[in-house]
Amino acid sequence: MSDDNQDLMALCKRRGYIWPSFEIYGGVAGMYDYGPLGFSLRNNIVEVWRSIYKGREGFVEIDSDTVNPREVFKASGHVDEFADTITYCTKCNAPFRADHLVKEFYDNPDVLSPKQLEEAFVKHGVKCPECGGDLGPVDEFNLMFRTNIGPGSARIGYLRPETAQGIFVNFPNLYRYNREKLPLGVIQTGRSYRNEIAPRQGMIRLREFNQMEVELFVDPEDKDWERFPDIENETITLVPNTTCEPVEMTIKEAVDKGIIANRVLAYFVNTTKQFLLSLGIKKEKLRFRQHLQDEMAHYAADCWDAEVLLSYGWTEITGIADRGSWDLTRHAQFSGTELKHFKKFDEPREADVTKVRAKHKTLGPRFKGQARAVAEAIEAKSPEDVKDGKLTVTVDGQDIELDGEAFEVVTVREKVTGERVVPHVIEPSHGLDRIFYSVLEHAYERDAEKDYTVMHLAPIVAPIKVGVFPLMEKDGLDDMAKALYEKVHTHRVEAYYDGSGTIGKRYARMDEVGTPWCITVDYDSLKDGTVTIRDRDSTEQKRIRADDAPRIVDELLAGKPFADL
Ligand code: GAP
Repeated sequence: MSDDNQDLMALCKRRGYIWPSFEIYGGVAGMYDYGPLGFSLRNNIVEVWRSIYKGREGFVEIDSDTVNPREVFKASGHVDEFADTITYCTKCNAPFRADHLVKEFYDNPDVLSPKQLEEAFVKHGVKCPECGGDLGPVDEFNLMFRTNIGPGSARIGYLRPETAQGIFVNFPNLYRYNREKLPLGVIQTGRSYRNEIAPRQGMIRLREFNQMEVELFVDPEDKDWERFPDIENETITLVPNTTCEPVEMTIKEAVDKGIIANRVLAYFVNTTKQFLLSLGIKKEKLRFRQHLQDEMAHYAADCWDAEVLLSYGWTEITGIADRGSWDLTRHAQFSGTELKHFKKFDEPREADVTKVRAKHKTLGPRFKGQARAVAEAIEAKSPEDVKDGKLTVTVDGQDIELDGEAFEVVTVREKVTGERVVPHVIEPSHGLDRIFYSVLEHAYERDAEKDYTVMHLAPIVAPIKVGVFPLMEKDGLDDMAKALYEKVHTHRVEAYYDGSGTIGKRYARMDEVGTPWCITVDYDSLKDGTVTIRDRDSTEQKRIRADDAPRIVDELLAGKPFADL
């Protein structure tokens, strides 16, 4: 940890941004609680994100369960694949992520197998970073927290390692809600859990963390976005996987040159850039790195990480991927529910259609009064549902296994009005805690000589927007300041009344937590109803009418420059 990073973490703790969880019991690595200021800052970040996706783009928001049955993560691949490599020191027994121990020797060590990692330890003489002891064998360690749903061990469940699956499994509900149309944009924010092996990087690697995920379902043949022309000339810093060098270009250029796979993905890469910059992330410390070919999930058409430069080095805070049809295809396979979009043609077309047809003659004698229901259930199935010549249908809650006596797969020429396609998913997945921490680190400025700290938080995310002070807590100045505080403090504008200490100390306290403006009531205020408003970043002060203060704060929050007051 750098000195600045240590000072920042100390400030966060002292001033109520974040606290190590369960501190009175010695704490647990990778777990933090949000104090009052941290909670407000985090909420403000969420509100900016919401205003972009729900407000500007018209997405819908849901809130799904954090404990999921095993089937969900079997389908998503997490049960079988969501593992990191682990090794223990044979001397002090400390656990380590095996790939992290060799990262200085390989570009992408997380693709190495346990055996390759063991060989790498030997080849590069890697020892336990804590005590210098020999490292033991390397194993796979699944990162999901496992639990039981209900008493006993009847049903295995897991705490979700990402919020995304709650959106995918609700696709039929969401699709109906959206009146069976694409594109369908859905957002969700909430807790995710990963039993990280050795979280040693403050808020960057947590075991319980917050995500803001966006899942956009699109027509696989229409990877465009209506508002793309509005942003196509915006510039962005990209690190393509072909050169691995940062390069600045326009979004249009990135798509035209085939660097970003398609326009809808490029649009949301740019939206992520706009979002992060609006929070106060520094432009020169933000870049978008394309996943290397062997790093990219096999189903992903393209994948970019928003990385910010922190005291920990370049750090991923958001991943933006074109996940293709993977998620819905897998959940359809594992749940037996069709997860498709009916794509209507402009004109009906003649086409060969392969379908499952009931053999009515054999169904009557076998199923009697149920025969019609069985026939309907057969014809609702598709040829892909036929496995090894058998088909299972559910009638009156009962599964019935059928063979070729009861149905046939036929190809007929028909007029069709459309086709059923599996939507593709574009996913900007934001790590809220990493964004939160990055916002703080980029805002933090410390003058060690003067022992003075200013947190230059963007007003939109600052937890306290205005400090309100009486010059002295007497002579009616305090009454006027308290009345002003009541007027300025609303659910949207958090104000803070402070009457203790010198005025310099009060400014310093507000500067340290990132409050953009302070208003002071002095003796002139009693005579002429004016007060002083001070700008945190320029330290400039202006005289305004106290009655105008709520309006002026609103205008400043909306982006009016302080100099224009
Ligand atoms: N649904 C896709 C998904 O979850 P991911 O890259 O595994 O993708 C997305 O996670 C974001 O979540 C990351 O970019 C990161 O910001 C955040 N994240 C992941 N693991 C985290 C952890 N252990 N602690 C804090 N944030 C984490």
